[in-house]
Amino acid sequence: MKHKKRSNFSNKLGFVLAAAGSAVGLGNLWRFPYLAAKYGGGIFLLVYLILAVTFGFTIMIGEIAIGRKTGLSAIGAFEKLDKKYTFIGYLASIVPIIILPYYSVIGGWVIKYFVDFISGNSVKAAKDGHFEAFISNPTQPIICFFIFILITAIIVFLGVEKGVEKVSKILMPVLAILTVGIAIYTATLPGSIDGLLYYVKPNFNHFSIKTVVAAMGQLFYSMSLAMGIMITYGSYMKKDVKIESSVTQIEIFDTCIAFFAGMMIVPAVFVFNNGDSSAINAGPGLMFITLPKVFNSMNLGSVIGLLFFILVLFAALTSSISLMETIVSIIHDKLHIGRKKATLIIAIFTCIVALPSSLGFGIWSGITPLGMSFLDFFDFISNSILMPIVAMLTCFFIGFVIKTDAIAEEVKLNSSFKREKLFVIMTKYIAPVLLLIILVSSILNALGIVKI
Ligand code: TRP
Repeated sequence: MKHKKRSNFSNKLGFVLAAAGSAVGLGNLWRFPYLAAKYGGGIFLLVYLILAVTFGFTIMIGEIAIGRKTGLSAIGAFEKLDKKYTFIGYLASIVPIIILPYYSVIGGWVIKYFVDFISGNSVKAAKDGHFEAFISNPTQPIICFFIFILITAIIVFLGVEKGVEKVSKILMPVLAILTVGIAIYTATLPGSIDGLLYYVKPNFNHFSIKTVVAAMGQLFYSMSLAMGIMITYGSYMKKDVKIESSVTQIEIFDTCIAFFAGMMIVPAVFVFNNGDSSAINAGPGLMFITLPKVFNSMNLGSVIGLLFFILVLFAALTSSISLMETIVSIIHDKLHIGRKKATLIIAIFTCIVALPSSLGFGIWSGITPLGMSFLDFFDFISNSILMPIVAMLTCFFIGFVIKTDAIAEEVKLNSSFKREKLFVIMTKYIAPVLLLIILVSSILNALGIVKI
């Protein structure tokens, strides 16, 4: 097979921005706040932070180094390092295929709110029951995700991702600033203090293994780990860019955005529900139920809301484009199907698989695989089953097959490796064991065998 010369990111900032651009998306804005709300607020935040500097750090270093060492994306990279373990690359590649359809359903919800705000319906969007009426409608959410997938597919089909990336490099910092601004505004609302305390102050009574399972899944999802993405990014990284400090910067950036997204949403739930804490369990709809109320309470809220949803739509599209692009590349390389044809196939497949995730909140709400809605089910399969498996295998592979020295050598090409000890101990011992515990407990819990 002919290999095109890989274009490299020109410098460290370029690399960090590109990787952070892939990492920041609906995971930070939509997923993190509803999980933080649901799994105990401050205690979830604390567990997440601890996992980010230990697990997140270790796995991101490992993946980026594997990518840069081999110059290949996941499947090729594992194959080159040890043929017997190519299956890890394949397993990682399944994750984006599962994520993209339900990611598109949420992207569709963003389109709906964007349309609401642009057509002057921002007050209506803030009313109780607006979101529920929308997602239980049999056709509207389907039209929305269809449009979202269509836009994604057209961009991948035409090969104009680079243009979108350029625009998003300008828009993402604006989104970051806006998120911080809204978070500060939320904190000034009367009655937000209880919510703020719930969000930042760990309450150990809320701790359970579920908190760890949820935080770990979120970490992988948000930082695009355990799905081959960071290996691909690493393969484009120049040899003179420092891996360790890049990883630190990507993690800080991604975590800050998630933190402020939570701060703009979680306290607001307390403000607008008169302290009724059952609202914090809203799940995937939390952002869409809460934020319009925040915008409705501010001067110029309809304009700020519109700006916010445009930017979120952009963030969601850059992620979905990169997800689709990843899948198309795999199909193109492995099944030798032309890129355009592959895009078409993936787009149709994504629409079909998105259908149950969307209908699961409406006419199919009676069908609950493993007791979950379809969207939660797909989310569970990717985040609580597949990603821990891939992460565990990757750690095993690095720790005992190619050995941690092989990674350390790559990291140390141009700098010292300050947290090498942490990396080695995590990779060889702590990460695999904890991931196994998480995996087993979440499977047993889903099957109803034990209650965690
Ligand atoms: N990390 C992204 C987010 O926070 C979501 C995501 C998962 C992603 N896998 C990806 C983005 C692959 C780009 C490529 O929303």
